[in-house]
Order: sequence, then C-alpha cells, then structure tokens
Amino acid sequence: MPNKEKKGTNNVKEHDTVVTSPPQSIRIRVNGLWHDFKMEEDLSSSTTLSYLLREKLGFTGLKVSCDEGACGACTVIKDGKAVLSCMILAVEADGHDILTIEGLDKDDPVVEAFAEQSEPGYGTALQCGYCTPGFVMTTKALLDENPTPTLAEVKDGLGGNICRCGCYAGIAQAALHASEKIVAKGVKNDRKI
Ligand code: FES
Ligand code: FES
Repeated sequence: MPNKEKKGTNNVKEHDTVVTSPPQSIRIRVNGLWHDFKMEEDLSSSTTLSYLLREKLGFTGLKVSCDEGACGACTVIKDGKAVLSCMILAVEADGHDILTIEGLDKDDPVVEAFAEQSEPGYGTALQCGYCTPGFVMTTKALLDENPTPTLAEVKDGLGGNICRCGCYAGIAQAALHASEKIVAKGVKNDRKI
C-alpha cells in the first residue's frame, strides 16, 4: 500500500510552512525584548508590522508615509535584513527578531554619522528628518552586510528610500562616513574586513 504521508512529506521543502489554522497568539522580539500579542484582541490577521510597532508598542521612530512600499520611511531590520514594515503583516513577524531605530546604540556609527551630517545647509543629510529613521535603518543593514561600500553601492543600497527634502548627497556622505567609523572602530565583518 502506498505511503501517502511519506510521499506528501517529500514534496514539502524543509523550510516550507504548512498553515492549518491561524495562530491564537504571536510573539515578536523587538530590540531584544519579546512581546506577546493575542489575535483578535491585540491585532487582527491584517494588522501590519508598522502599525503594531508604532501603535501597540510605541516605537514611533519608524514613519508611515506612503503605506504602500514606495518610500522606505517605515524601514526596520528583520532578522538582519532591511524590510518595509508597512508591507509585512504582523503575523509574518511571529517568532522573528525586529530592530527599530530605538534599538540602536547612541554611539552606533550610523547614528553618529547622520547626526554629524545634520548641520543646516548644503550637504546636510536631513532637513525635516521625516525620512531619516528609514535611511538610518537601511544604511545600518547595508553596512552590516558590506561595511566598506563604494558610493555607487551606497546609492544602489539606499535607492528604495525617498527623501522629499532632497538630501540625497548628504545622506550618501553620511553613509560613507558611517563606513569610515566602522572601519576605524575595528568592527569585524567576515566578508569585507
Ligand atoms: S511607509 Fe512603508 S514604504 Fe512608505
Ligand atoms: S529630510 Fe525631509 S524627507 Fe528627508
């Protein structure tokens, strides 16, 4: 008699998830702390990660601007990768690690570089600052992966983020300064340093 269960199992990749029923609750680790949420009480199946982070947990550093994945203002880092939190459902973050700008150290090289590049005038990395958290988190993820990017790689890596004040030159310079700080601090990265 054919073993249907075994045959079916062979067709499922190891990392595939077979969803049988919605979870009753979810857990998300944000900036190092786990948070538990009850479905239909704290959130619904359509609640976005950006809403959960801002409205339920108070991490208002991330901004929701376009709310459709087009501007990068809502960028957070999920399991080490920059993601658009307005485009992720909160339930998709169940069991995952999220880093928001509030979770960065004050002496984080990216934070320092953007702060130092904030003097008003030509070359500033920020004017109104609305886009800044998204750029900082995208830069953070970029430099975690590639600590010594070229200007072209910075432009490419930050290409999904929009600054309506047009501070792109200053933002790119801040990213390169952050890279210099990382190298100076001797932060190790297996790939490039
Ligand atoms: S608010 Fe998420 S990409 Fe614009
Ligand atoms: S500094 Fe105003 S949107 Fe970028």
